[in-house]
Amino acid sequence: MPDTITITDDRTGKKVTVPIIDGVFPATAVRELDPSLYVYDPAFMQTAACKSAITYLDGEAGILRYRGYPIEQLAAKSTYLEVAYLLLNGQLPTPDQLAIWKSEVTRHTFIHENMRKRFVDGFHYDAHPMGMFVSAVAALGTFYNDAKEIEDAASRDKQILRLVAKMPTLASMCYRFSVGLPFVYPDNDLSFPANFLNMMWKIGEYDIDPRLERAMDVLFILHADHEQNCGTTAMRVVGSSHVDPYSSCAAAAAALYGPLHGGANEAVIRMLTEIGSIEHVPAFIEEVKSGKGSRLMGFGHRVYKHYDPRATIVKQTAYDVFEVTGKNPLLDIALKLEEVALSDDYFISRKLYPNVDFYSGLIYQAMGFPVAMFTVLFALPRTVGWLAHWQELLADPDQKISRPRQWYVGPQARDYVPIDAR
Ligand code: ACO
Repeated sequence: MPDTITITDDRTGKKVTVPIIDGVFPATAVRELDPSLYVYDPAFMQTAACKSAITYLDGEAGILRYRGYPIEQLAAKSTYLEVAYLLLNGQLPTPDQLAIWKSEVTRHTFIHENMRKRFVDGFHYDAHPMGMFVSAVAALGTFYNDAKEIEDAASRDKQILRLVAKMPTLASMCYRFSVGLPFVYPDNDLSFPANFLNMMWKIGEYDIDPRLERAMDVLFILHADHEQNCGTTAMRVVGSSHVDPYSSCAAAAAALYGPLHGGANEAVIRMLTEIGSIEHVPAFIEEVKSGKGSRLMGFGHRVYKHYDPRATIVKQTAYDVFEVTGKNPLLDIALKLEEVALSDDYFISRKLYPNVDFYSGLIYQAMGFPVAMFTVLFALPRTVGWLAHWQELLADPDQKISRPRQWYVGPQARDYVPIDAR
């Protein structure tokens, strides 16, 4: 069977044949047929807008790999900082490389005093932490004159380091302001996740349970990248204008703020709370199936038509966390929901399985994070994924400023009537 596709323009009889490589064919075929012809593809459902060597995702088989490494192995054997290095550099670090990377990240955790004193103090007392976070990421860039020097590799590396290192500080700053608590400075003797937990709650060096520290790190690993989702696409589209990476990351974080993207685990907690007890689960499922109630939140995925591999790891991590915190009372409802849904033909026939959000909210809640922080907890580790894609974009000779076309459906030119004669 030839690995080509031939498109015929029936208006002119012109044919163009192009190769199909890895299931993709170039849209230049359409341009060759007729440069004024465009493809209509809302939400980019059938469009690959870039080549990428960062994350591999096979939704039918439930496979997720970063730079070729299965997510299961990374979650079991690596730390978030190792995974961050892998995503950015394509290889896991050697012990020496890791020591340097860790020490550099650790030395960049502090933020300018004006960020915490003047910038954050300007927010309304009940501002949403994610709204503050989006703005704080953009504001951070204004403190660095070299942020715009994106042609310079050393400057790019510097901004990446700053963004990765300062995200936990910004996240905890936004949280503590939103609940009226004073800022906690980074503690550079602590690991990346322990420092974050300490800045959230000022726990003290020796009181952070290593199981919670590890659970935080695993959740960071699971959220570090997920190829061309809405936030990453925002990062690439905005980054393609060659703006500084802080502004692009702020745009990506803004995309993540939306309930259709980063807000689903919050919706899961609300749903479980409303269901209230396992006796109500069958009735709730019937309501979902009838289409009259809400969807089963935390189930289904645009790409995964299989159990989301991250959900399996999150579920296991939940048990580790509950050993320390005590069980989240909503867990039994979640387990019952999963059991009922996975044996019901409605969900089986539509290939609806738990996604990463089904259990992650239960962990965050058990650890003491308020629901409003859930999206911030997603953005913090995802920053490294955004930055890996930003680097890849800038190095890709195929890329230009993003500029899709439109299908114009408004009125055509009207007869000329002078506006002031109307
Ligand atoms: N509960 C009940 N039915 C569902 C669900 C669900 N969670 N998800 C999809 N369906 C049904 C749809 O009603 C539709 O049924 P139909 O064919 O009878 O009309 C069918 O399954 C296909 O649904 P689509 O909306 O076409 O699937 P799509 O790929 O567009 O949606 C999405 C994916 C948005 C994630 C969807 O499954 C959903 O709304 N899930 C709940 C929200 C959620 O958990 N989001 C988090 C996603 S993961 C992340 O962003 C990190």
